[in-house]
Amino acid sequence: MTEKMTLALIYGSARQGRFCDTVASWLIRELETSDVFSLTIIDPVRMKSARGDKSAGPAEWMERKVAEADAFIVITPEYNHGYPAALKEMIDAVYEPWHAKPVAFVSYGGASGGIRAVEQLRQVFGELHAVTLRDGISFAKAWSKFDAAGNLYKPEEMRAPLFLMIDRLTWWARTLKYARKATPYNEIAA
Ligand SMILES: Cc1cc2nc3c(=O)[nH]c(=O)nc-3n(C[C@H](O)[C@H](O)[C@H](O)COP(=O)(O)O)c2cc1C
Repeated sequence: MTEKMTLALIYGSARQGRFCDTVASWLIRELETSDVFSLTIIDPVRMKSARGDKSAGPAEWMERKVAEADAFIVITPEYNHGYPAALKEMIDAVYEPWHAKPVAFVSYGGASGGIRAVEQLRQVFGELHAVTLRDGISFAKAWSKFDAAGNLYKPEEMRAPLFLMIDRLTWWARTLKYARKATPYNEIAA
């Protein structure tokens, strides 16, 4: 059996009472039985609490989390036509560990479903030598799509786009993992 790759779910919101937890919990339920990926979570609330951790400050914590991951899904809301500052703080905390790794997006918000936040994030990840996926999931009026227990009213509708995104993320994760091993990315240009 081939070893599982590590997929990091990056929470975009640090707001108290955030809807991010509802979307992330749905995603975790869909992916936790994956044969391809084991899941890990990168949460700005956890990064903040690492400030008080003497063994690893926020940057070291983030460095380790990004370095150990083979692929990422950013779960982001839209704030004023952009993405949250807490997400940018986490992304900017490290540089090289992002290189030559794939990033997919699950976005949510009001009418736009967070897609304006995602388009801005593509620019940011381009600068970090990461590869962003065309395929993503977007929840417009997200709060109307989930019941009070956090379950989607129409889970089947989301599975086809979600697993198409995951299949393509798997392709990129495998391909880039192999390529990074064959030729370390930082060795191709001095
Ligand atoms: C400061 C702020 C700005 C927002 N701006 C937008 C926006 O520009 N477009 C949109 O579709 N929704 C917007 N919303 C709605 C959020 O996307 C929605 O409330 C979402 O659930 C917030 O995510 P969170 O609860 O995980 O923090 C905004 C919400 C906040 C708090």
